Amino acid sequence: MMRLLYFGALLSFVAGSAAAAETFRQQLTELEAKLATEPTNTTILFKLGDLCHDEGARDNAKAVELAEKYFKQLLAIEPTNAFATALLGSALTMRARDAFWPKTRLDYVKKGIRVMDTAVQLAPEDPDVRLVRAINSFHMPKFLERDEIAKADFTWLWQRVEMKPEGLKDDLKQNVAFFYGRILKKQKKTKEAIEVWNKGHCVQPRIRSGQGDSPTAQIVARVPCSEIPGLGRIQSKARMPVRWRSELAAILVTRAQLEQRVRELSEIIQHDFTDCELVVVALLTGTIMFLADLIRRLTLPLRLDFIGVSSYGSRTAPGQLNFTKELRLDVCGRDVLVVDDILDTGQTLSRVLAKLRLLEPRSIKVCVLLEKQARRTENIQADYVGFSVPDLFVVGYGLDFAERYRNLPSSAY
Ligand code: IMP
Ligand code: MG
Repeated sequence: MMRLLYFGALLSFVAGSAAAAETFRQQLTELEAKLATEPTNTTILFKLGDLCHDEGARDNAKAVELAEKYFKQLLAIEPTNAFATALLGSALTMRARDAFWPKTRLDYVKKGIRVMDTAVQLAPEDPDVRLVRAINSFHMPKFLERDEIAKADFTWLWQRVEMKPEGLKDDLKQNVAFFYGRILKKQKKTKEAIEVWNKGHCVQPRIRSGQGDSPTAQIVARVPCSEIPGLGRIQSKARMPVRWRSELAAILVTRAQLEQRVRELSEIIQHDFTDCELVVVALLTGTIMFLADLIRRLTLPLRLDFIGVSSYGSRTAPGQLNFTKELRLDVCGRDVLVVDDILDTGQTLSRVLAKLRLLEPRSIKVCVLLEKQARRTENIQADYVGFSVPDLFVVGYGLDFAERYRNLPSSAY
């Protein structure tokens, strides 16, 4: 039910893997079976439309047609359902994407726009509805003249996030920050864009520990999920790739969220290190994916080197730090950006920083993908943080548990 995941897909990547396609088919079959017994159940119709809409955003044209069908069925019963209307409009713009003839494309996109405008008229104060129209408008070609609508919608949404964040979902806030920041950046308001991007990158788990039958969740979560405040909804494990579903409890940060946030961090770093003698120093091994995604977007003339660290002893009683690979590049007089996967107690980074300072760089800044504030023992803060996460043991996107799960494309626990 990650209804906003498709926005990430619009950004470019999430090409549906075989596993994701399989998950979609399974869920579709289940929901269609339910619908067969209750053909006018609008909750089921919405779930079907939503599921097909998300899948449609991964370039599955058949799913887009189904999304259109189910939302139309729903709206025949409940014509004032604004969110369903907005998603129908969005599905219609995807039909434009999939159509062959230019005239058909134009017709679909115009219809989609009309339907999304109707949705906003139905519920102008509904953030979900506004976001669907905003992101669709943001991606439309210039000649359709939707720039101003995108700007107005995101400005409204950002004010809403700032003034009344209660009850707004994490991924909505992140999407709003990401796109509104990009709009500001386009207007050359880089400082404001950076401020927007840096706000609100806190994620809460989407699942309760009742479902924590996962070995890692049981073995390594230091705080039972049920004791973490703010955990309400139980979300399905739908987006967890099949391969890992029996082992991990839930996705904490999705691929789409990671991609967006890393992109924001790259823009901020690009801005801050212009005209610097940048040396990126990444800690092995957990940073691999993050580092690759982060630096591929930088157009600065940077140098790259690695430090290998491993700690003896258990994680609860941090042992000695062992340097398995020393720095090769000379950082004296240069601007060092240390990249690590996760800042937890801070012991690793504080020792690495102490060692680096002896080499007399001109400046040292720290960038981490994740941070857990709960267990900090050292007086250390990162200058750039991807996401603040609760005290769970997180794996994936480079992070491991006993050397496994590094290849999971999202962050999970
Ligand atoms: P610190 O020294 O306690 O800040 O821990 C930093 C290192 O511990 C990170 O670089 C990770 O390698 C590891 N670590 C801490 N928490 C986690 C986690 O939740 N998942 C995976 N590795 C972690
Ligand atoms: Mg590490």
